[in-house]
Amino acid sequence: MNIERFDDEHALAEALATRVLQAILVNPALVLGLPTGRTPLALYRELRERSAIDWSGVRTFNLDEFAGLAGDHPGSYRAFMQAELFDHVSIRPENIGMLDGRAPDLRAECRRYEAAIAACGGIDLQILGIGANGHIGFNEPADGLCAHTHIAELEQQTREANAQRFGGDWTAVPERALSMGMATILGARNIVMIATGAEKAEAVRAMVEGLITTQVPASFLQVHRRVDVMLDDDASRLLTL
Ligand code: GLP
Repeated sequence: MNIERFDDEHALAEALATRVLQAILVNPALVLGLPTGRTPLALYRELRERSAIDWSGVRTFNLDEFAGLAGDHPGSYRAFMQAELFDHVSIRPENIGMLDGRAPDLRAECRRYEAAIAACGGIDLQILGIGANGHIGFNEPADGLCAHTHIAELEQQTREANAQRFGGDWTAVPERALSMGMATILGARNIVMIATGAEKAEAVRAMVEGLITTQVPASFLQVHRRVDVMLDDDASRLLTL
């Protein structure tokens, strides 16, 4: 894993936005994997501010979505992505890949998503955040992990971390979500993991320096050949390397 340290989240976001936009300039048909959450907010702000770049050929696939929520529900990741990025750049609506949490058959929806990613030739650049418990997407610590896009049961800690978009009430956060699996994520040609803040420091240490274990799903990134880990000072402070 290639570790990159930044003074703060703004410097990190500037550098990553530059990398994403350069990748689009080099390959206007870039297939981009995108995360939600607090961590990528600064990145999306940077991308909005540099919206002159032509996104019309870019395809995106988001990591995950809550089960049972329509795309216009304010807590949905679709609503998050529209507000933070998609409504502000020239991406074509038909090029936006999102899991549909209201699909009548959620298993079929997971299969549709895997097929859509494959039909694009796979993800060129996957950007990831990390949960404080080491989860990526909604691949939670467990005795076993799912390879492909699947229905995930969420831990209370993860629901609490997502409560802000549900009026601060973690019990209002859906108990289930749809998420890319480990093989979906590790199938990306390039991965950039971003983590900021002291509350991520232990998960970052376990991801980078710990054994590969299903109890820290992000530790599986160690087996990928092209992972850049972009950290601010607080998130990197427990690393010994
Ligand atoms: C959420 C998302 C993840 C995200 C993580 C960290 O539950 N499903 O994709 O990376 O938790 O979120 P945050 O950046 O808000 O800390």
